[in-house]
Amino acid sequence: MTNKLPRHVSIIMDGNGRWAKRRGLDRLQGHKAGVESVRAVTEFAAENRIEFLSLFAFSEENWNRPQYEIEGLMELMIDAIIGERNTLMNNNIIFKVIGDFSRLSKKLLDKIDDIQTSTSVNSGLTLIVFLSYSGKWDLINAFNLYLDCIRNGSNSIEDTFDPQTLEKYLSTSSIPDPDLLIRTSGEQRISNYMLWQCAYTEFYFTEVLWPDFRKNDFKLAIDTYMERERRYGKTGEQINKNN
Ligand code: IPE
Ligand code: IPE
Ligand code: MG
Repeated sequence: MTNKLPRHVSIIMDGNGRWAKRRGLDRLQGHKAGVESVRAVTEFAAENRIEFLSLFAFSEENWNRPQYEIEGLMELMIDAIIGERNTLMNNNIIFKVIGDFSRLSKKLLDKIDDIQTSTSVNSGLTLIVFLSYSGKWDLINAFNLYLDCIRNGSNSIEDTFDPQTLEKYLSTSSIPDPDLLIRTSGEQRISNYMLWQCAYTEFYFTEVLWPDFRKNDFKLAIDTYMERERRYGKTGEQINKNN
């Protein structure tokens, strides 16, 4: 094996709509079925001592979907947060949500706030859900937060702007960059996800649709990652010498 277990695995959970269509069901039924896959990957991550598992649940661009689907998805998030509360607490899981909160309903924000506070006492797996998130939003938001600090005097215009400065203002400042990014359903694109943070992430694409994704699929992705050589611009010889 070349790599250690990934510290942070992220998943673009895709294919719910196609899963439903193939069964003659409504798209929302596909999203509902996807919750079972979330349970499976969370369990797998906790059992295998992965430190951070993040899930792309709703993108900034997904606000352009039909209103009934958006409303159904938001209801599903609320139900899932309420329904999974005991499981999260019993399994020592820290739960975080990242994204543009200005677009979320008060009802959902209250549930998020409540579950984040309750699970903050835990010390096991950190489960992060990206909701109303996009990589471009994250970067622009970080620049604006930085500018606010210049305007209010806590940053100086003379300060150098470097990668560490930017990272301090990104919504992901408290979590490490993903080591492995999995995307289901055969699509091979980043869809405006963590653009900065994925600079050296290993990508893994699978044809499996999200509602069908189970522990054995996750294990295959992890095993594939562990066989890879991460070179960060160096030569294979340089990497092997340091191992
Ligand atoms: C992913 O499944 C879930 C969300 C983007 C909310 P999709 O709904 O994108 O499923 P497909 O791509 O239409 O099959
Ligand atoms: C990306 O899926 C976002 C999430 C999985 C939440 P989409 O299905 O919306 O992405 P595109 O539009 O096909 O790239
Ligand atoms: Mg899709």
